Amino acid sequence: MIDDVKKELEKDLKEVKDLKELNDLKIKYLSKNGLITKLNSSIKDVDPSERAEFGKKVNEVKVLFNDFYEKTKDNLEKEELNKKLIQDSVDVTLPATKVRQGSPNIVEKLIEEVEEVFLNMGYDVVDGPEVELDKYNFEMLNIPKGHPARDAQDTFYIDGDEILLRSQTSPVQVRTMLEGKGVEPIRMICPGKTYRRDDDDASHSHQFMQIEGLIVDKNISLSDLKGTMDVIFKRLLGEKTETRFHPSYYPFTEPSVEVDVTCSNCKGKGCGVCKHSGWVTVVGAGVVHPDVLRMSGYDPSIWSGFAFGFGAERLAMMKYDINDIRVFYNTDLREVKTFDREDEE
Ligand code: DAH
Repeated sequence: MIDDVKKELEKDLKEVKDLKELNDLKIKYLSKNGLITKLNSSIKDVDPSERAEFGKKVNEVKVLFNDFYEKTKDNLEKEELNKKLIQDSVDVTLPATKVRQGSPNIVEKLIEEVEEVFLNMGYDVVDGPEVELDKYNFEMLNIPKGHPARDAQDTFYIDGDEILLRSQTSPVQVRTMLEGKGVEPIRMICPGKTYRRDDDDASHSHQFMQIEGLIVDKNISLSDLKGTMDVIFKRLLGEKTETRFHPSYYPFTEPSVEVDVTCSNCKGKGCGVCKHSGWVTVVGAGVVHPDVLRMSGYDPSIWSGFAFGFGAERLAMMKYDINDIRVFYNTDLREVKTFDREDEE
């Protein structure tokens, strides 16, 4: 019987071709019911006079299997690894997949251009908090509680009626004056996010970007504002761009104006963007109200200034002929790529 097992084993060993077959053999011979295991457990039943001889033979078969197993396993493993390496090898001559480069949001790009223009004119770019005090967002800008101007800026209040999400970047004017005393002239712009409780539609967004500007110096007048607006919009929208003022009202400026610029889409000829007038209103501005100067510690008999504020998206919408503000805030890459191409041309 033991000779039969040995013969079978020798035949099996010759036929092993891969790791799976080798493991199947291990099960066949050495598992709980394996042929060698069975021989092993039958040693005790053999007649004592033959037991030693039988045991020796069983052991020889076991050694035969184990030696073969160890050696063959190593070889087969190496063989399989080589096969895999050949299969998985990389063809370095194949063209690589193109990685598309990202690009900044178009509003971000516009803000960078605006910053560049103002930095070249000696302005600082400053920052202010988006969570703001009612005191800075309204009171110190001459908009006390109950003032009708508050209605136009339906505000997100946080925790009572003193803390809010700023509804305009104008509170940064107050902060800059409070911090800036002694380092006049003040010349700053502040681009930043603002928030209003508007329902989002083609022309409204509950969050949008404003760019605020403030100058405080001696002998500043409305004509300085006009000169500044002329220069910056020529630089931003092209040398042929003109600006004009029309009267307006803001509680923190006196006089207050709105600034129109030549429609950059039709160059003033009239189109859908400018409602066929050739002009688009893009900025609110004016001479800083004496009370606003006073509240921030500047004596209006010595100091004067001008301020302005505009919506970055509105300017971008005109510059790029976009008729829906939501384009800037959705994540449709096709839109972004369109801007990329326009800029490359
Ligand atoms: N803060 C105003 C708004 O959100 C815009 C504005 C108008 C800012 C006139 C100014 C200014 O600094 O002088 O509607």
